[in-house]
Amino acid sequence: MKIIKRETLKQKPSPDAELGFGHYFTDYMFTMKYTQGEGWHDPVIEPNEPQRFDLGTSIFHYAQGIFEGMKAFIQPDGSIAVFRPEENWARMNRSAERMCIPQFPADVVEEGMEELLKLEKDWIPTKPGTALYIRPTIVATRVMLGVHASTEYLFFIILSPVGSYYAHGLEPTKLLVEDFYVRSAIGGTGEAKCLGNYAASMKAGEEAEKKGFDQVLWLDAKDKKYVEEVGSMNMFFVINGEVVTPALVGSILPGITRKSCLQVLRDKGYPVSERRISIDEVIEASKNGTLDEAFGTGTAAVISPVGLIRYKDEDYVINGGKMGEITKMLYDTITGIQYGKLEDTYHWRKIIK
Ligand code: COI
Repeated sequence: MKIIKRETLKQKPSPDAELGFGHYFTDYMFTMKYTQGEGWHDPVIEPNEPQRFDLGTSIFHYAQGIFEGMKAFIQPDGSIAVFRPEENWARMNRSAERMCIPQFPADVVEEGMEELLKLEKDWIPTKPGTALYIRPTIVATRVMLGVHASTEYLFFIILSPVGSYYAHGLEPTKLLVEDFYVRSAIGGTGEAKCLGNYAASMKAGEEAEKKGFDQVLWLDAKDKKYVEEVGSMNMFFVINGEVVTPALVGSILPGITRKSCLQVLRDKGYPVSERRISIDEVIEASKNGTLDEAFGTGTAAVISPVGLIRYKDEDYVINGGKMGEITKMLYDTITGIQYGKLEDTYHWRKIIK
């Protein structure tokens, strides 16, 4: 892999800094270009510096772009581990297909990511709960205003040392059930990790934040009846001992942490179901005392307990506003594998030496 070195390096945040999420970026990035007729070409690691783009570039107008999120962790033996990267490349190519972006070679970007991580190893934070967040992205770069798939693209990977996604860390989150705006409809782009999904969710998110909530809990677009996801997390509920997560009906992001949690739960013998779950069922369970736990899963959010849900102006406190037993077990298992504290029986750690 070609590496273009920079003359001066940035100042890294101090080891005990409160990193938050996505505020710092490392010195280098991986890039690769696509040109129609030539395919993907010129993979390179180069200084991460501000770029210049013509304002007619199609990404600025029609958001034909996709992204992924992964994390790198320092292992007890000093090596670097990334959690299930092959799953992210596969999902990214599925998102690409939905957004008319050409398929990319996963082996080339995996090599680019690994070389980048080796070069930026000193940026991986080691304080508990921190990691180096990996953000692969593809954007349409043709300068053209017609509403057509671009004929040129830029693939890039940037890195950001992060702490917890929520400012309050592992404190249970408060969710506002959104019954007006919708995130995605079946046939839309909800199961693709495309840029516009996140832009479209901001209005409801901002309104929820103003009311003191962390995020919005989305319902299905057609009936506003079934729970979908949170936008940065997939949702799980523990009702009467059964662990339930909304089925991937086409409008929900197929989360990799979600998939990993399902496997851990099944292997440990918990009754698990992926099915449609209505908000009425969740509220009824809360009222009759059978809603034991609720939590969200995601790369950035890891496993986040949900302590309160507001629906139609009523607040429903879950598990006394505390992290539940199953949530804790999943948090300990997934982070134990990620940070190399538990044996990796599933082969989910990709070790980069
Ligand atoms: C992630 O968990 O990596 C995400 O992409 C969610 C969010 C930060 C956009």
